[in-house]
Amino acid sequence: MASVGSSRICAKVQDKLCQWGQYTFIRRKSACVRSRIGYQTPFRAYLQDTQAQSQSTLVGTATASTATSACWHPCNRPEVAGTARTYGTMRTHQPGSLPEYQVDPYTVMEDDLKDVYEYIRNILRQNTYQDNLYEIATYYFDGHGKAIRPMVSLLMARAINYHMYKEKSLLSSQREVAMISEMIHTASLVHDDVIDQSDFRRGKPSVNVMWNHQKVTMAGDFILAVASMMIARLRNNDVTSVLSQVVTDLVQGEFMQLGSKETENERFAHYLTKTYRKTASLMANSLKSVSILAGAEEQLSDISYQYGRNLGLAFQLVDDLLDFVSSAEAMGKPTATDLKLGLATAPVLFACEKYPELNPMIMRRFQEPGDVEKAFELVHKSRGLEQTQFLAKQHCQEAMRLSQLLKESPYQKGLVVTADFVLNRMK
Ligand code: FPP
Ligand code: MG
Repeated sequence: MASVGSSRICAKVQDKLCQWGQYTFIRRKSACVRSRIGYQTPFRAYLQDTQAQSQSTLVGTATASTATSACWHPCNRPEVAGTARTYGTMRTHQPGSLPEYQVDPYTVMEDDLKDVYEYIRNILRQNTYQDNLYEIATYYFDGHGKAIRPMVSLLMARAINYHMYKEKSLLSSQREVAMISEMIHTASLVHDDVIDQSDFRRGKPSVNVMWNHQKVTMAGDFILAVASMMIARLRNNDVTSVLSQVVTDLVQGEFMQLGSKETENERFAHYLTKTYRKTASLMANSLKSVSILAGAEEQLSDISYQYGRNLGLAFQLVDDLLDFVSSAEAMGKPTATDLKLGLATAPVLFACEKYPELNPMIMRRFQEPGDVEKAFELVHKSRGLEQTQFLAKQHCQEAMRLSQLLKESPYQKGLVVTADFVLNRMK
């Protein structure tokens, strides 16, 4: 039975150490970046709005030498990797007033996370005698994902319990929400891989390569159905409606991705709504659910929700950025796929300002010969990657600010560090 074992956790920590190295590097260069990144229409209003929400000091993240992704990406900066290896523990501090932290959320949550995948496999097993259905449905529950959704749900649950009651334990219903969150996410990935005709995920052939589409689609449905039973068993009407909203959002977000908008303003708004629905809603509403289960008042559960919303938006922005700059090896899935799928994500939308010739390509979904290559090149020549990361950073800063409204505890600190992970992740 696969689970998140300690060696896996160690591997994760190594990855994070590398990211911490990047962060150190970024801080040294930050001063020059603030003046380099300009905001132009149609994104200025959105950026300023996000900025107004954030009371944290903003520090740009790209470097003065970010003309191309080759020098921008941490994988291509040996000095960063070198820095990373000098740190024995996960340590980070944020610019400005934050104190130093010595919290690695993956370590803090190791015991909680260890059970998540085993439990999910058990509950799927309990609900079918069909070995083939079980095998397909559990294919991605092998402990090789980032487990960001269960981790952050469990962290928030513990942080809220401590904030409200100085209580260090977890409710079983909160643990269930962490699992439900991962199950909804995985069901959506199973369907997504069929839709995208994907080849590879998490370092292995994707589920649609291993089995036929009919079986895979039904396995996705099965995971979602079992997750729905688990929601019903929580017997909490508010949580039921909050988590049902997530499924509606996921489907609508995926559907929105199939359409394009005519004007730049409409397109960016469409992209952000799509991003919320496809990625942020699940994190936001899972975190809201664990707070509701703790008996939190609306104001407190809204802090959880907003933390998850900001983290989720940043997570997807970074994902869209990594699609342009990371390698398939690092990501465990093919990169440079969004353009091939006809998708104009934040880096392209930002690049449009400097290179309006991208507009007709976006409208025809990069279908003409040479479109993908040309768009890829223009994105790298523009400041779209820096601007995307800057926007992600604003959302991470806001998530950090929100987590600091909770009473200090290892879990609350873990939430701060997680926002840093999301921003500086490399896969
Ligand atoms: C990955 O996107 C996909 C999602 C985050 C959501 C997909 C949602 C659906 C297919 C709707 C159905 C939902 C349920 C609950 C069954 P991506 O293709 O951008 O990322 P990738 O590169 O990891 O594939
Ligand atoms: Mg996909």
